[in-house]
Amino acid sequence: MSRYARIVGWGKYLPSQILTNHEIAQKLPTSHEWIVTRTGIHERRIAAEAETPSSMGVLAAQDALKQASLWPEDLDLIIAATSSPDRLLPSCAALIQKGLGAPPIPAFDLNAACSGFLYSLHVAHQLIQTGAYQTILVVGAEVYSRMLNWEDRSTCVLFGDGAGAMVLRASDAPGGILSCVAGNDGTRADLIQVPGISASCSDPLVNGRAHLTMDGGPVFKIAVRVLVDSAQRALDQAGLTPADLDLFIPHQANLRIIQSAAEATGIPKDKVFVNVDRYGNTAAASIPIAVCEAADAGRLKQGTRVLLAGVGAGFSWATMAVEWRTNP
Ligand code: ACO
Repeated sequence: MSRYARIVGWGKYLPSQILTNHEIAQKLPTSHEWIVTRTGIHERRIAAEAETPSSMGVLAAQDALKQASLWPEDLDLIIAATSSPDRLLPSCAALIQKGLGAPPIPAFDLNAACSGFLYSLHVAHQLIQTGAYQTILVVGAEVYSRMLNWEDRSTCVLFGDGAGAMVLRASDAPGGILSCVAGNDGTRADLIQVPGISASCSDPLVNGRAHLTMDGGPVFKIAVRVLVDSAQRALDQAGLTPADLDLFIPHQANLRIIQSAAEATGIPKDKVFVNVDRYGNTAAASIPIAVCEAADAGRLKQGTRVLLAGVGAGFSWATMAVEWRTNP
């Protein structure tokens, strides 16, 4: 008998502190107008000192479990998608497990940068299809604000902090995740990097800290190309065309990337979900946060066909067609 993976719960957590473009422009040679025109970003959230990816991930996971009417005891696997973990060891997933009070089930991190959440959903989907697991928690949680060079106007304006989560459950009825294509081009690994994060590496630090570097121009072009290509392949794999789609929820990195990719794929503006204006790029947390807000806005109904698409450092990508069915 075929097994399907359905998204039965979703949740998010955003830190309360808002950092506006105007505030950044008081400290750096930039402006609200420049940032909005080039990226669509108006403001982003910044984690408080006591907040970490795992503490925010726990809150997002609790929200998702509540939505699914499940308890931590119902889970049999936890995957944390993060590229800014609290610590190198233990994993962020282990800390989330502890924070939730979940039983001693397997828990591990997956780092595919901004594609990490969809990579994790892809893995969870496969593990449900094989019958190995029934109920999997996937969390995307990031605190990029602590690994940005706040003197580099070309990168620090782009990112924000946050967490999102989903609970996947096995079902015998069709629906849920329909297809997934993922890839990575290691020859472009240098385009977005955070050197100096590991105690065992000899990368130089900026002001004693690890920092993100990015070659924005090539990233922009490659992001659009892989989004368009993987969207087409994920739709083909699901037996769908762009016209069959009700909603497109892409990684929220830059409004211009989103608009270019949607247009080239043949997805009209009114079917594209955007919240990059309020949160900036929250890396692996971006897609689950956007899914929560799309659901809250009534844009995800039973049977809605949605395409989720991520791109990021690596250079990585993952795109997934989903038929929104929330009952297991
Ligand atoms: N304010 C004002 N001027 C700026 C700023 C800023 N915040 N940042 C850069 N500039 C300047 C540059 O210094 C440059 O000046 P110069 O011409 O005197 O040298 C000028 O603006 C133009 O710079 P460009 O890089 O050509 O600007 P562009 O239009 O390409 O926009 C941007 C830059 C927004 C970074 C764009 O390249 C982009 O969005 N790239 C993709 C970034 C992205 O999405 N990254 C996330 C990937 S996901 C992940 O895994 C992390």
